[in-house]
Amino acid sequence: GKRVFSGIQPTGIPHLGNYLGAIRHWVDIQEGNECIYCLVDMHALTVWQDPVQLRKQVIEQTAILVAAGIDPQKQILFNQSAVSAHARLAWIFNCVARIGWMNRMTQFKDKAGKNREAHSAGLYVYPNLMAADILAYKATCVPVGEDQRQHLELANDIVQKFNHDYETDFFPQVQGYIPTTSARVMNLRDGSKKMSKSDPSEQGRIELMDEDDVIVNKIKRAKSDSEPLPSERKGLEGRLEAFNLISIYSVMENKTIDQALQEFAGQGFSTVKTALSDVLIQHIAPIREQTKKLLADQAYIHTILKQGAEKASAIAEPIVSEAEAIVGFIK
Ligand code: TYM
Repeated sequence: GKRVFSGIQPTGIPHLGNYLGAIRHWVDIQEGNECIYCLVDMHALTVWQDPVQLRKQVIEQTAILVAAGIDPQKQILFNQSAVSAHARLAWIFNCVARIGWMNRMTQFKDKAGKNREAHSAGLYVYPNLMAADILAYKATCVPVGEDQRQHLELANDIVQKFNHDYETDFFPQVQGYIPTTSARVMNLRDGSKKMSKSDPSEQGRIELMDEDDVIVNKIKRAKSDSEPLPSERKGLEGRLEAFNLISIYSVMENKTIDQALQEFAGQGFSTVKTALSDVLIQHIAPIREQTKKLLADQAYIHTILKQGAEKASAIAEPIVSEAEAIVGFIK
């Protein structure tokens, strides 16, 4: 088996993009591998978080991940700030990564927008902390959506420079596990934007805690077009919203896009939308209801996080201590 690491920011409620691009694969990959899943509260802090909300969201997201099928007994589930090895290794990586590398990060440019100077310094070095998350465990397999690809490339640049500068082979190269379908689920109201927790309008995303009628409504009001559906994938070219809806449907039904289109060829979007709402509810309702049950016993969630942090520390501590020794820190 491999050592797997991945993280999610405890800001807002996970949405269909998080689920199809990442969480679903986190669940599948558990079999036969050692998985470490992290609520990255330190990453969340790179933009302002109300402290009460931050605490609440870590608890809520932990419950959602367990409800979605992460096994906290067999695997490791914890919040980042509870294991100090992350911050210590991130500092070393801040000193390995070059400012020029940071300046190339498209996610920083997108998030900071025109007013770069007003953002936190943490947002700028965000990818170095992410590299530390993975490498504090020497994890080699990282299941993420497409938007994290550049950050993983940066992690490998850090590995290469660290190993070169200190004449070692201490850190391994990391490998992204990026799904071939639904690695980039788009906004329901605008097929050119990715579905995102930070979008001010909730109409563009389906959240894992949405009630059935909310799901039906969001899908009903999702942007589509007035053309009937084609019988083959190439007929969707340039139809961003249509492509997004069919993609979501096909991955949730375990079908290819062409197979999904065979069901709908010649029909309009009302048929597709009904079928899509049905399959979404079928997947999301059990997660939502199980989450509610888990949240009724918050002591249990706190125990999961505490035990997760202990197990995580036991792995990360010796690795990060050795990295500190390599760079010349006296302990
Ligand atoms: P975050 O919290 O933005 O998203 C969590 C996971 O969901 C994926 N994702 C999507 N996939 C498909 N379509 C979308 N519209 C979509 N939106 C989000 C993300 O790719 C991600 O896999 N930097 C990370 C968290 C992180 C991390 C790590 C991940 C911190 N340290 C170490 C892996 C390894 C983030 O902000 O994810």
